[in-house]
Amino acid sequence: MHFSSYILGCGGYVPKKIVTNKELSKKLDTSDEWIRTRTGIKQRHIASKKELNSDLGFEAAKRAIKNSKINTSDIDLVIVATSTPDHTFPSTAAKIQGKLDIKKGFAFDVQAACSGFIYAISIADNFLLNNQASNALVIGSEIFSRILDWNDRSTSVLFGDGAGAVVLSNKKKMNSGIISTELYSDGRFYDLLYVNGGVASNQKAGYIKMKGKEVFKHAVKKVVSSIEFNLKKNKLKKDDIDWIIPHQANKRIMDMCAVQLGIPKNKVLVTVDQYANTSSASIPLTLDYALSNKIVKRGQIIVLEAIGGGLTWGCSILKY
Ligand code: ACO
Repeated sequence: MHFSSYILGCGGYVPKKIVTNKELSKKLDTSDEWIRTRTGIKQRHIASKKELNSDLGFEAAKRAIKNSKINTSDIDLVIVATSTPDHTFPSTAAKIQGKLDIKKGFAFDVQAACSGFIYAISIADNFLLNNQASNALVIGSEIFSRILDWNDRSTSVLFGDGAGAVVLSNKKKMNSGIISTELYSDGRFYDLLYVNGGVASNQKAGYIKMKGKEVFKHAVKKVVSSIEFNLKKNKLKKDDIDWIIPHQANKRIMDMCAVQLGIPKNKVLVTVDQYANTSSASIPLTLDYALSNKIVKRGQIIVLEAIGGGLTWGCSILKY
């Protein structure tokens, strides 16, 4: 089996403030029961007014670098997957690179909505394979609370704020690493899930708009077929998978994907109950949870998968 870059370490960060379903139901016509049974979400973390996306990403990055046991100065590539950058430009990646006082390499953002982290690790992996960088800091960081219409119960209950990061390296030859990543998009479904703002439309950030039922149907079908394709391409069997770390949008989507793949639900790692949907941050946050709790171990085969606005989707198979 051929491996490209490998994960040195991971870190996660969520803002201190927790908002429970019950608290939301005091302001909105919703209930803990509705939210839990439809989505699996029990609570979400929400950033304070003072916190920016780069603050969350910076905290996650520091933890990932510490857990990787390398120096910050070893990082020569910073990629941030986000749909909620601090500013239109420069990139949030450049801001975090500056906050970390990294003086070499290059930094940029990737925008692929909830699939952003899968896109970002694939991009980093290619730079590392081509020796254009040696140690890449790949961050998924989101502050969706700023693009939610808090009067819209159909979207505001679904999301939370947070950040996760990994350090990918090509430094040593390891018997582990990314095996293969598959990426897809289909812009015909642009308006199933979008934010109705932006520089060119109305100079305001806008709010999330979503056709939930249709996103649900696409999510299960597209994620399952991308995983099956990637496994087959690499001559791997479903039984070879130790863990699936899905984008944490909705527990029902994750359960249905597991059923269709024929993979036991206890191999699917879930944090949506604690963090809600943190978009591009959800996969590294869940990986951090799994590593901190010693659930995922070195040598195990992991599938990372996501689908999001665009539509964009994809999956990555790696040996940790
Ligand atoms: N509380 C109470 N009732 C609600 C709420 C709420 N928070 N939100 C909607 N409802 C009501 C609706 O108004 C509707 O009422 P009606 O029948 O009187 O018209 C009823 O509940 C059913 O609404 P639906 O939208 O049909 O509910 P559904 O069962 O489809 O669940 C959900 C909605 C959870 C969004 C579901 O469609 C879903 O999970 N979709 C996947 C999309 C997703 O997870 N998106 C996240 C971002 S995309 C991504 O990350 C992949």
